[in-house]
Amino acid sequence: MERFYITTAIDYVNGAPHIGHAYEKIYTDILFRHFKKRAAETFFLTGTDEHGIKIQKTAKANGITPKELCDANAAQFMEAWKLLDIEYSKFIRTTDDYHEKIVQDIFEKLLEQGDIYKHSYTGLYCSGCETFLNPKDLDENGNCPIHGKKPEEVSEENYFFKLTKYKDKIIEHIKKNPGFILPEFRANEVLNQLENIEDISVSRAKTNVEWGIEVKSDPSQVIYVWIDALSNYITALGYDVNGNHDENFKKFWPVNFHIIGKDILKFHSIYWIAILMALGVELPKGIYAHGWITIDQNKMSKSIGNVIAPKTIIEDYELKNPDALRYFMATAASNGKDGNYSDVDFKEKVNADLANNMGNLLNRTLNMLVKYFDGEIKPEFVEDNELNSKAEKVLKDVCAFFDKCDIASAANCIISLVDEANKYVNDTAPWALAKNEQMTECGKVLYNVLNLMAKITLLIEPYCPTIAKMMADQLRVDINLKYSELMPNMISSGKLISKDEITPVFLRLDSEFATNKK
Ligand code: ME8
Ligand code: MG
Repeated sequence: MERFYITTAIDYVNGAPHIGHAYEKIYTDILFRHFKKRAAETFFLTGTDEHGIKIQKTAKANGITPKELCDANAAQFMEAWKLLDIEYSKFIRTTDDYHEKIVQDIFEKLLEQGDIYKHSYTGLYCSGCETFLNPKDLDENGNCPIHGKKPEEVSEENYFFKLTKYKDKIIEHIKKNPGFILPEFRANEVLNQLENIEDISVSRAKTNVEWGIEVKSDPSQVIYVWIDALSNYITALGYDVNGNHDENFKKFWPVNFHIIGKDILKFHSIYWIAILMALGVELPKGIYAHGWITIDQNKMSKSIGNVIAPKTIIEDYELKNPDALRYFMATAASNGKDGNYSDVDFKEKVNADLANNMGNLLNRTLNMLVKYFDGEIKPEFVEDNELNSKAEKVLKDVCAFFDKCDIASAANCIISLVDEANKYVNDTAPWALAKNEQMTECGKVLYNVLNLMAKITLLIEPYCPTIAKMMADQLRVDINLKYSELMPNMISSGKLISKDEITPVFLRLDSEFATNKK
């Protein structure tokens, strides 16, 4: 694989980041870091979605301008992603000048070629979704099923996009490309939605929505926030309507994966695809919809008062790095399903996998190496092919799960290799071998475990970059190795480590922390 490009959804900045937003960014970062170990050049885009009636209303309620609200909250998102070690290549804000200009050009192009037309319309608008809802999509109280609020009746003359023109082509594309929508069970959902699509309104009268990008040829209208937002995936790379694209667009488009929540799959797999078709731009290779994170099985909401910021968890547990939270999030939901955060589950999971299982194994093994061999790997410590082929199989399986963006299954697969290594140590009992003075046998066992740990280190790095770095340092392994560079023997002979260099990579979380959350 030469090039790899991945994106997250861009978050609305009408509030602070919570662990639902964090879930997606961690998810994408893990995919990115994994593929960085497989591709020559990579690009990871995230950012904030800053226009629309929702932002306008929130700013007004807070007595500040929309731009002030955006600046304050965009900064909070960036700070949160820094705290979580999200290694994005670029952060786009839809209020960035270059983005606004390209979005205007896109709109004009679609208008000129007749894909956009003017039309009078009355509809029900949900500002939470930033979309018109069909009356049959409302719940029994006439509310938006996602936001639980009554949509507003809007009567306007606006511009419409000929979505229906692309319906058959989109259906055909989805049917012909089974991996296009992931997890695959979501594809049917989209095909059903496609059955009932209509042309969509793609602008709002400025008298009703001020906070948006003006239509260039008609400043009485602002461009619909979803057209603005979706375009970020190409404006960030320097797409140009006249074909004078920047280097990044030429290099990285089409995107490998758009990572988004299940609630906005329709916008990505129908609206966005139609726009790209209309623009004559290549389609994304994949769109992955993750599930939603609940708190103690409840939907996060301001009214319930159970919204948790990622920072709160890091601070409450006095975590020195975000790896535990990253790892928990990565495994909180099975592929594309909803997941749940609870303090009890968090502690149990990371204590079991990171402390007791992985961290402890490394620590025990290095300590035995110091105790029996003064920390030295002797040339006669030959290697076990069976463990090697197990590691090779795990690497293959992990890559196959990543190809489908299934990071939870990939994590389980890696942990199964740690289990395997623990079982091997317990079965071969190197301490008993040492007691019987079978030193070569004992050394061979330790060497095999350390070689396996080196591979585990590189496989776990996308999830736990800091912990992996600590493991790599103690094993004298280069953390930046590509997966194609994994060797049967990763550990060199000679002095590996001394007693005072052995450091536990993850300490168990104590239950006395996390008392003042919520
Ligand atoms: O939808 N669990 O922004 P947004 C998991 N601006 N994911 C969650 C979540 C939760 N509890 N809550 C939100 C928007 N998300 C648009 C996107 S993209 C061109 C424009 C996810 O701030 C949600 O599914 O409402 C979405 O993918 C992302 O956070 C941003 O949500
Ligand atoms: Mg939302």
